[in-house]
Amino acid sequence: MDDLGLADWPPEPIRTERLVLRAPEARDRAAFVELLASPEVNAYLGGPRPRDELERETPEVPERWPGSFVVDLDGAMIGHVLLRRAAGHRRPAAAGKADLGYLFLPRAWGSGYAAEACAAALGWLTGVLPGEPVVLTTQTANAGSMRLAARLGFTEVERFEAWDAEQWLGMWSPPTPSG
Ligand SMILES: CC(C)(COP(=O)(O)OP(=O)(O)OC[C@H]1O[C@@H](n2cnc3c(N)ncnc32)[C@H](O)[C@@H]1OP(=O)(O)O)[C@@H](O)C(=O)NCCC(=O)NCCS
Repeated sequence: MDDLGLADWPPEPIRTERLVLRAPEARDRAAFVELLASPEVNAYLGGPRPRDELERETPEVPERWPGSFVVDLDGAMIGHVLLRRAAGHRRPAAAGKADLGYLFLPRAWGSGYAAEACAAALGWLTGVLPGEPVVLTTQTANAGSMRLAARLGFTEVERFEAWDAEQWLGMWSPPTPSG
């Protein structure tokens, strides 16, 4: 994956009804470690990483690149939304397209926060890269992620086998300007 290659980063924090999307800061480090060390979060993402390894390797200010949004609820990080360019995607339909990923701490699941944050990130992308479609790959067994993809308006391109599991490739197209 490559980053989106935007010179103008980070943007002003994006405010939704309940959340703020902003660039990562040093105070988010513990939440990043928690996200990547969580067995629940990584159940369909190849498994958790050892916490001691993450503590050693996570930079003081983690994941600061164009398209990497911390999702902040009341001043604390609850999730990470990633928009990258799927340069080497194994499916031709997705290769080179903008790609959405999302990871939320389990205590923040089930409240619509991921949907609210991802919709805002897609809206932001349409503002900076008008007309840009977005792809998303998720395991079909990842029911919460499949529901979220549908809720955001992604539609199925294809299913394929990879990493010992069935994968779902979905695509989202920005709303066409009226008039
Ligand atoms: C995938 C993931 C982000 C989904 O999180 P989520 O909280 O279920 O997703 P949403 O924000 O769409 O929330 C929807 C749920 O909140 C409920 N909800 C409660 N209050 C709500 C509100 N005010 N508005 C909207 N939904 C609300 C909905 O009913 C829905 O419940 P359901 O899943 O039982 O139908 C989360 O499970 C996760 O981080 N998983 C691990 C990482 C991962 O696998 N990522 C995929 C890699 S691409």
